[in-house]
Amino acid sequence: MIGSRDVSGHPLPLRLAAPPATWSRDVDVVVLGSGAAGLSAALAARPVRTALIVTKDTLDAGSTAWAQGGLAGVLDPTDSLENHVRDTLVAGAGLCDEANVRTLVAEAPKALRYLMRLGAAFDPSHEGSGPALTREGGHSHNRIVHSGGDQSGAEVQRTLDENAIAAGVEVMDRAFALDLLVGTNAAGRRQAAGVRIARIDGEGRVTSVGVVTARAVVLATGGYGQVFASTSNPPAVTGDGLALALRAGVAARDVEFVQFHPTVLWRGPDAAGQQALISEAVRGEGAILFDAAGERVMAGVHPQEDLAPRDVVASAISRRMALAPAGVDDHVYLDATHLGERFHTRFPGITAACRDAGIDPAHDRIPVAPAAHYVCGGVVAGLDGRTELPGLYAVGEVACTGVHGANRLASNSLTEGVVAGTRVGRDLAWELPEDVAWEEADAEPGLGLVDPALRSSIRTAMSKHVGVLRTPDGLAAAAEALQLPAAHEATTRAAWEATNLLTVARAVVAAAATRTESRGCHRRTDHPEPREVWVRHLDVRLDATGDVVVTGAPDDHALAVAAATAPRP
Ligand code: SIN
Repeated sequence: MIGSRDVSGHPLPLRLAAPPATWSRDVDVVVLGSGAAGLSAALAARPVRTALIVTKDTLDAGSTAWAQGGLAGVLDPTDSLENHVRDTLVAGAGLCDEANVRTLVAEAPKALRYLMRLGAAFDPSHEGSGPALTREGGHSHNRIVHSGGDQSGAEVQRTLDENAIAAGVEVMDRAFALDLLVGTNAAGRRQAAGVRIARIDGEGRVTSVGVVTARAVVLATGGYGQVFASTSNPPAVTGDGLALALRAGVAARDVEFVQFHPTVLWRGPDAAGQQALISEAVRGEGAILFDAAGERVMAGVHPQEDLAPRDVVASAISRRMALAPAGVDDHVYLDATHLGERFHTRFPGITAACRDAGIDPAHDRIPVAPAAHYVCGGVVAGLDGRTELPGLYAVGEVACTGVHGANRLASNSLTEGVVAGTRVGRDLAWELPEDVAWEEADAEPGLGLVDPALRSSIRTAMSKHVGVLRTPDGLAAAAEALQLPAAHEATTRAAWEATNLLTVARAVVAAAATRTESRGCHRRTDHPEPREVWVRHLDVRLDATGDVVVTGAPDDHALAVAAATAPRP
């Protein structure tokens, strides 16, 4: 295994600067993040454990509440687990962990029935037996349950919020998780022992800092869509858990595989921040993509056409936009007018977003463009949440369990959050890791934070150079643009988030520059095909000086052999 190093004149801090701790708490299980995965973990652990959810905002500020499409799971007797496994592996483009995929798929129907028993109201089928099932890109059968038409995530969030609170899960909101507390266990290994936390006010200013010690720390902080200027993710999704794990020396994997949703509502060339999603379920109901010249985008591109896996559709749209048909190079159109007025009842949330932009999808084509949506990579973990650091667990989007490979199959993510979260919580209910005392970190690296004013330069560089189609020059330009100092002194939520965004952005660029092929949602214009030599994962860490180190790439000899034996075009 060889490593490449992103050596910079501006190393990343290994600890977030903050005022001294003035309070402490002790619980069995502390969960960082309050989406489907974190709530499921806390709920499952709670009957026999004290469980505290720490969230920097309010309970429902993360991605879960925004999910439209739904949750995938085999409930139809004419479908099969094997079909769901196959669709997931095909979408994952050779990098899935098949054993974990099989576990996820086998447990998905149980997870859906569990949610229904907890009170989740999924839309009923017309036949009246069980929930209605729809289809999204890459699925060979209808197997996605939804709620309120396109409000599926909000219903999952409501259900889990209510059950967790009723079960006695404690919530500490407006609390920013800064860094892990680490001790040494009986075997002489480093072990997570808790987390340092800043309580903040509504403006993100510190009101106090303290430590929460715990036998288990569960990372459930979601992804890092806000690393990009244009994303379907809400503002809170700034990669905090991934950056925290990297600072603790824990590896992240597959971070270059950022899934761009093919269709967010295009609201003009200057639109930035969270964009309204136009669910893939709209294409599941028969909508078709057209370019500005009125030509179909997906005809002849893939056998599943508009319902091809998401990476295929996003890349086809990006290539078409680059050709600027009818002079339009920044969006295409989604035509769902065949649904007529039924659009309004099937997709009430999308209807509202479109109306806000002066569009009626029952009669008008919807302008759409790809935007960062989901990250397939994250902290290396099993479906039982275990990471390489004893006492530290990772579940949901912050984790890389290998179930998504190089490209997640639509609507597998909420399902994974509930399955993995519940498995972790259940394991922790049965047995906790050993109790270790935390130790003060060695000498501080003496770095400050990233100035929040630099946040937009990070996000602009990432969207411009590390989007759907990546070039070597663009990746080099992004690496250059990310050489930003960590010298800001004010300790606020905005500065911690900017520091986390920079940490994650550097990791993504280093991995994307290393992977010289196109696979799943990582597309390089200089290497447009997948390469057999790259059927492998890249791991990313921060070294002791705060530089990003990438390992797992094939050595130069293997690359040279692959290049020499590659078929000529
Ligand atoms: C969508 O509704 O298109 C998003 C579903 C998902 O990301 O799984």
